[in-house]
Amino acid sequence: MKLYTVDSPVAMSRKAALLVARLIVTKENAVLGLPTGETPNGMYEALVQMHDAGLLDFSHVRTFNLDEYVGLGSNDPNSYHCYMSRYLFSKVNLSAVNIHTLNGAATSPEQECERYEAQLRAQGGTDLQILGIGSNGHIAFNEPGSNWGSITRVVNLSGVTRQRNSVHFAKGTDVPSTAMTMGIKTIMNAREILLLAYGSDKADITYQALNGPITERIPASILQLHPALTVVLDAEAARLF
Ligand code: GLP
Repeated sequence: MKLYTVDSPVAMSRKAALLVARLIVTKENAVLGLPTGETPNGMYEALVQMHDAGLLDFSHVRTFNLDEYVGLGSNDPNSYHCYMSRYLFSKVNLSAVNIHTLNGAATSPEQECERYEAQLRAQGGTDLQILGIGSNGHIAFNEPGSNWGSITRVVNLSGVTRQRNSVHFAKGTDVPSTAMTMGIKTIMNAREILLLAYGSDKADITYQALNGPITERIPASILQLHPALTVVLDAEAARLF
């Protein structure tokens, strides 16, 4: 594991964007695995700035998002697809055919997960998977107890996750109780992984995940076994290291 500890969330975003940019510049058809949440916002902004400055060309980049809520179509403002359009897809020259997301409105979420896993495999898998970490150690929507062998599938969301993610939903709108997510195995198959975290509320879980026992109770702990894991933390999230 390569660990970078930087001063601030802004520095974390900048470092993450540079690592992503390095791949885009050196590998023409790079496949990026993309996360949502608060954590990557600044990284997307930094990537957009590099693109606007003429430094980054996304025209051959392919993207696969990690997860999506069941029941939320791509136009739903709470969907992860909409989040991605807001922060990245509408702001850089990604080609629509190279953008891959799970369709939250699919009539059969199970079949949609199978289709997605097969599509990712057909494109040769992920070069760089970027991840945040949930307060209970989840990665994507792989909640505690997720099987190490899991692939893209429908999952139930924990109360903790629904509660935490409710801040992003309009008042009175419930966070769906199910989601589709890449599995632990799907994520671990990425050739490189970049884990990001900032803020004191991520300090304990990040430390446990990267230094504690490798256990299904903390899904992110499996990242210790990945041969090419890079971690970028701000000083607060790295407090216990
Ligand atoms: C969500 C997402 C995860 C994300 C996590 C942390 O539930 N499914 O991919 O990493 O929560 O979110 P945040 O970055 O807002 O702390």
